[in-house]
Amino acid sequence: MAKKRVLRGRRNFLLGLGTLAGTGALAIASRYWHQSNQMQALADNSRDFPVVGNTPLRNRAAVKGLIYGGATQQYMLASNTAFATSFAQECGMLVPEDELKWRNLRPSPDSFDFTQSDWLAEFASTHNMLFRGHTLVWHAKLPKWFKTTVNRQNAEKFLVKHITTVAGHYAGKIHSWDVVNEAIYPNDGRSDGLRNTPWLKFLGPDYIDIAFRAAAEADPQALLVYNDYSMEYDTPKDEARRTAVLKLLERLKSKGTPVQALGIQAHLWGGEARFNALKLKAFLENVASLGLKIMITELDVTDKKLPKDVKERDRLVAEIYEEYLSVVLDEPAVIAVLTWGLSDRYTWLTEKQPRKDGSPVRPLPLDAQMKRKLVWNAIARAFDSAVQHGN
Ligand code: G3I
Repeated sequence: MAKKRVLRGRRNFLLGLGTLAGTGALAIASRYWHQSNQMQALADNSRDFPVVGNTPLRNRAAVKGLIYGGATQQYMLASNTAFATSFAQECGMLVPEDELKWRNLRPSPDSFDFTQSDWLAEFASTHNMLFRGHTLVWHAKLPKWFKTTVNRQNAEKFLVKHITTVAGHYAGKIHSWDVVNEAIYPNDGRSDGLRNTPWLKFLGPDYIDIAFRAAAEADPQALLVYNDYSMEYDTPKDEARRTAVLKLLERLKSKGTPVQALGIQAHLWGGEARFNALKLKAFLENVASLGLKIMITELDVTDKKLPKDVKERDRLVAEIYEEYLSVVLDEPAVIAVLTWGLSDRYTWLTEKQPRKDGSPVRPLPLDAQMKRKLVWNAIARAFDSAVQHGN
């Protein structure tokens, strides 16, 4: 109870920064708070994120009208019983990490291979989990044949056929689709902030509208999501990305494109002090004011800048989860929190963001032996102290 008050108190302190004059002062105050908080966490080896009871995350989320889930690949569940058991126990939603990407679904221009994704859909259904689609349109992981086959003349036909077939295949069985993934990239220099993808080159900015309309037609029940990354920090890069994402969503809404939610990937960083609760809160409110739901879709924390000591590192990572989720779960438009993986045994960060000291990365709620870590406690505490959500 007392700990709950501490969490609430911290949230109120962060949000109370609004009384300070000027965003510069706010940023400095927030940064100072964050740094001193991290230092305190470093020094405070006794901080253990107490949680009442052993109830799994999916149930703690459900009590608050929220969804907790994770991404996984088929081979992980099929080859590791302990992982599969933990996944079914903790997760109320399953996201295929790679299986629904073009490269894996489309062996040739005329064929679709649903073997692995169907296996995952079946696993989800057997364990009473929601199933989520990632992703229908993305510039990455296109099949090898794409370059020599798709062009300006046939691009719309390929795009619509893909969406109609894939969203149609899972129609009625899917909670939500990342219809378009990572379409914003201000560095490409366009005034609308759009990324220069093959789809943009072939079809212009309208490819996004075309995709959402095709998805809505193929599966009228699925929640249709625009998903993107780097919207978390008080940095010029993330600020530019937040602005461009908001403009895109406004444009889509104003022309009646059936986009229904924003997916915020939330790949967070340990040792990154430029977190500003007020800016994140304002962004979430802006998104919600467009009538959109919000999903946290790929949460994890890169720990390569944190100390090697596992106890210390786990505390710092848990602190980041708790701080982030305390802001996010205050926003009523948020409906789900999904981590990109569940156990440190399987995470893209092992390959993409390894630690220089060679020790295994620890970004997720369970360790490599499926034991709950402080990150698990932090997520449990965030759900337990969250306001009631409406879905
Ligand atoms: O399956 C092959 C394996 O046979 C081969 O030995 C191995 C050699 O590297 O590669 C394996 O495939 C890899 C696959 O992950 C399975 O682990 C691919 O090369 C690799 O590109 C693929 O990476 C995935 C990446 O997206 C690209 O699709 C990651 O698993 C996945 O976590 C990552 O997820 C993305 C989201 O889709 C979008 N947001 C960012 C997020 C993290 O990058």
